[in-house]
Amino acid sequence: MSKDNVIIRLERKEERRETENLVREAFWNVYKPGCSEHYVLHVLREDPAFIPELNYVMEEEGKLVGQNMFMRTMIVCDDGRTVPVLTMGPIGITPELKRKGYGKTILDYTLKKAKEMGFGAVLFEGNILFYGKSGFTYAREFGIRYHDLPEGADDSFFLCKELIPGYLREVTGVYQTPKGYYVKDEEVEEFDRQFPAKEKLKLPGQLW
Ligand SMILES: CC(C)(COP(=O)(O)OP(=O)(O)OC[C@H]1O[C@@H](n2cnc3c(N)ncnc32)[C@H](O)[C@@H]1OP(=O)(O)O)[C@@H](O)C(=O)NCCC(=O)NCCS
Repeated sequence: MSKDNVIIRLERKEERRETENLVREAFWNVYKPGCSEHYVLHVLREDPAFIPELNYVMEEEGKLVGQNMFMRTMIVCDDGRTVPVLTMGPIGITPELKRKGYGKTILDYTLKKAKEMGFGAVLFEGNILFYGKSGFTYAREFGIRYHDLPEGADDSFFLCKELIPGYLREVTGVYQTPKGYYVKDEEVEEFDRQFPAKEKLKLPGQLW
């Protein structure tokens, strides 16, 4: 499904807080009680690996309803080379519009933009049931391993899509998550106080 009535465009500086609130709403209580992704986005915008040309929001009737962004990172190859790749997210859709095709629409659009910029592949952690529909598969099928994961551990969360066909053909190695994604709980708590109060709930299906 794709949405015809939305505008997908770069995030404007003056709407940063609105986007962060959208991300907070999208992720709240999904993976853990509360969430940290709105702070992650806040921090990553200042990171040298951040790509402002791939920092997109989706607007409908003058309201932000979705966002996605990309970061530069690399694969440290088994033969000693490093191969530049992208990682992605947070990506979020406003809760009342989830599962209506908005996520796939902004995902496919931003992947196309990343490809137009010449990037070769995107790797990140996600659910194959959603990302598989946009051409992602398990990164292990490309011979790419997730950093710090013990041998034999479940790596089905670790996904990859080539933007340039064959980009990873001669590559085996370890993918690195950009350091900016690791935020401190205390900093998240402090940042979160700038937003309207929201109840943290322990819910079934959360990862942490
Ligand atoms: C994940 C997210 C971006 C997906 O966007 P969305 O608009 O809800 O998804 P779409 O409607 O475009 O989904 C397209 C297809 O992907 C699949 N899909 C999407 N989310 C899924 C989920 N959580 N579990 C299983 N399948 C899913 C469905 O098959 C869907 O097709 P359907 O409409 O026939 O069910 C959105 O739900 C969201 O913001 N979630 C909370 C934050 C989050 O988890 N972000 C991603 C972190 S990796």
